[in-house]
Amino acid sequence: MKTTATLSALLGLATMTSAHYTFDKLLVNEVKQGGDNTYIRKHTRGYMPTKGTEILAKDFTCNTNAQAAPQVMTVKPGDKIGFQQAFGANGIEHPGPTQVYMTLAPNGAKSADGSGDWFKVAQSLICKAGNAESLRKDAWCSWGENNVNFVMPESVPDGEYLVRAEHIALHGAHAGAAEFYYSCAQIKIPGVYAVKDKAINFSLWGSSTSYPEIPGIPVIAGGEIRGSADGKSGDKRVAAPGASGAKSAAAPSNNAAAPNNNAAAPSNNNAAAPSNGNAAPAGNGFGGNTNKAASASSSGCKSRRAKRSDF
Ligand SMILES: *[C@@H]1O[C@H](CO)[C@@H](O)[C@H](O)[C@H]1NC(C)=O
Repeated sequence: MKTTATLSALLGLATMTSAHYTFDKLLVNEVKQGGDNTYIRKHTRGYMPTKGTEILAKDFTCNTNAQAAPQVMTVKPGDKIGFQQAFGANGIEHPGPTQVYMTLAPNGAKSADGSGDWFKVAQSLICKAGNAESLRKDAWCSWGENNVNFVMPESVPDGEYLVRAEHIALHGAHAGAAEFYYSCAQIKIPGVYAVKDKAINFSLWGSSTSYPEIPGIPVIAGGEIRGSADGKSGDKRVAAPGASGAKSAAAPSNNAAAPNNNAAAPSNNNAAAPSNGNAAPAGNGFGGNTNKAASASSSGCKSRRAKRSDF
């Protein structure tokens, strides 16, 4: 009996590390921030998934009895954000997509209840073409990774947010039991200027002959850039490049880095839509808002916008 009990305990553990999980550790650029649930809201579902009709519950937003986390993490557009598995799990080994949603928290992320509009900032689908067997396994981008991750888009305005990362496991989806694994982090994207920004905290009194860092956000696509960081192209006015990737010789080099990220996430949503339906069940506070949020984010290019409060 004892041996049996030990064996099943071991099997239980093995199942936990590969098949059941939740996310409680926040990574920024691959580095773990704080401890368990410092920035990610703790919930009481443990490592079990939400499935079937459970996804119609209110707690589907940030998971069962999710409580405010003690801290809010400050991140910049372009940072890689990861939600790492809890309980020592070491890799997602269920087939299916991952997705990340955000909702603005005007009164601060700690007190946010997630009842406002959400927009989707990332999804991962299939990264390896293959046969039907591989679709049940490692064809999925997230297979084997121990965190759901994405790059924070340039187009998200500054402010505090709840960020909800999820993995949808599809192995039971044919029988109405797709499994949702998810939790919410509290994140802040700071305003357009900070005193320590290189372009703001800049000295004219050394040997520099150029102004290599651009203050604030990039010029909107088609906007005007006169001159350049080092003046070598003279007094020329050129159109700022767009998210389409058009390049301009006189464009400051840091413009290229951020806007290109946009192409990877939001614009894929429509084309690659299969999982949108899964994540937007009608009739609950979380999913019911996704369509509204999606149309809000596609109706206006928020890229390169600053808010009045930034100035
Ligand atoms: C401004 O730059 C100087 C020199 O690099 C540095 O010592 C100082 O800490 C910076 N100030 C702020 C507020 O970042």
